[in-house]
Amino acid sequence: MRLLLLLLATLACAARPVAPPLPAPPPPDPLTGRWQGDQVREDGGRRLYQFVLKEDGGKVSGAVYAGNGSNPITEGSVSGEQVTFVVKGATYRGQRRGEDLQVAIPGSRGATQSLATHRVSREAAPPPRPPITLPELRELPTNGLARTPPMGWNSWNKFRTRIDDKLIREIADAMVSSGMQAAGYQFINIDDGWEGSRDEAGNIRSNERFPDMKALSDYVHGKGLKLGIYSSPGFRTCAGFEGSLNHESGDARTFAAWGIDYLKYDWCTAPLAYEVSQMRAAYQKMGEALAATGRPIVYSLCQYGREHVEQWGAAVGGNLWRTTGDISDRWDKMSSIGFDKQAGLETQAGPGHWNDPDMLEIGNGGMSDDEYRTHMSLWALLAAPLIAGNDLRTMSATTRAILTDAEVIAVDQDPEGHQGKRVVKEGDLETWARPLAGGAVAVGLFNRGSAATRMTVRWQELGLEGRRQVRDLWAHAARGKAEGEVSGDVPPHGVVLLRLDREAARRRK
Ligand code: GLA
Repeated sequence: MRLLLLLLATLACAARPVAPPLPAPPPPDPLTGRWQGDQVREDGGRRLYQFVLKEDGGKVSGAVYAGNGSNPITEGSVSGEQVTFVVKGATYRGQRRGEDLQVAIPGSRGATQSLATHRVSREAAPPPRPPITLPELRELPTNGLARTPPMGWNSWNKFRTRIDDKLIREIADAMVSSGMQAAGYQFINIDDGWEGSRDEAGNIRSNERFPDMKALSDYVHGKGLKLGIYSSPGFRTCAGFEGSLNHESGDARTFAAWGIDYLKYDWCTAPLAYEVSQMRAAYQKMGEALAATGRPIVYSLCQYGREHVEQWGAAVGGNLWRTTGDISDRWDKMSSIGFDKQAGLETQAGPGHWNDPDMLEIGNGGMSDDEYRTHMSLWALLAAPLIAGNDLRTMSATTRAILTDAEVIAVDQDPEGHQGKRVVKEGDLETWARPLAGGAVAVGLFNRGSAATRMTVRWQELGLEGRRQVRDLWAHAARGKAEGEVSGDVPPHGVVLLRLDREAARRRK
């Protein structure tokens, strides 16, 4: 039987022509090119990614352009439709379908986010830069604002992009009811996440979470407070919202019409549009646009201290400029920014133009009360802007006491505006001093170590002579007179903040 079947099958095959073997699928054309896609986030932000890829013998090279600039691909391979490449140690995995490439972007803690990109060029060339006109560099006249470091609140540290009109109104209410306003805090600053799309004429609009910016500013002004806003010289902000690139004058006019009193201008996607050498001119362009509105608007530069901003921040009209990358609510981050990254910048600060070591994290829960007192003391000695970043509606009595301490704020707001500096460092122990009006000196004995310690500072280290009245600012207590040196018991990660007054100055009062 089997034999018979075999015979029949053989005969059948012989009767039909032999089918040619199926052609192997053509290999996909090389991946080489520029692939682009928007990562649309829940908050409405759209983060643009551009992958410049070059395929060569199964290997992939190139760079990823996203957010704050570009990073090279250090290793990459392609096999059929699967693409893998490594950027800054993180692995991106792609699945290709013709001109579309779906990429799993590595996120924090092993999470990945899926992004659809499309090939927009077959050349592995960097993204073209948009046409931009920039002003000739010059020194803008001062706007006369921020004679002492600005004090206020900003939404970013606590709320990120989870912000809306209701929150801002409630924070304004809490600013008043908590005593923050009476202590000197004035600005309510909306950070990233308020932006909507532009209208046909190119005017920026707020998104649906902020239905009426003018009404919001009227509300804030009605409480005797001021309203701040945020944008970027790039085409998008850090969180992927609309930036001010090529809309500087119009946006400044819109902000003025809304009644805005403070603008934080954040570099963010600007590296995709500008050469780094154009940074100063890009900031000057907005400085000029703000000045042209005729409205007093504090101008806050946020470009993470790059390109020696302290040397030109005031010339572009800036009232303050960030000196570092972002702070976070952790001792190691706050202390490294406050203690280690500000040295040498003190010569550039003064009335109207301040170094900004970033906003306060006090009350956000990641540090102890002693650590938050260190944060507040150091910022006061640095003549830093005091921009609270916590939820003012629910803060504890201790948080409120730290943020509103009149004697510590008086150090920050000293009218002479000299920024303090470190005068002694011995391992974890640092003494910082700031000259104040009337010949007084504020001194911070800081203990960065983990055991309580007694610290002493000598007059020669402070450039002082004679007898001084000593006041412990956090204890709100006079500590008598001292000559030659003064000591304090400093808790771990804590501070003793002293004010040393001339005896004569005290007597004159
Ligand atoms: C950058 C800034 C932050 C904040 C975010 C908003 O990271 O440095 O202070 O403004 O952008 O996206």
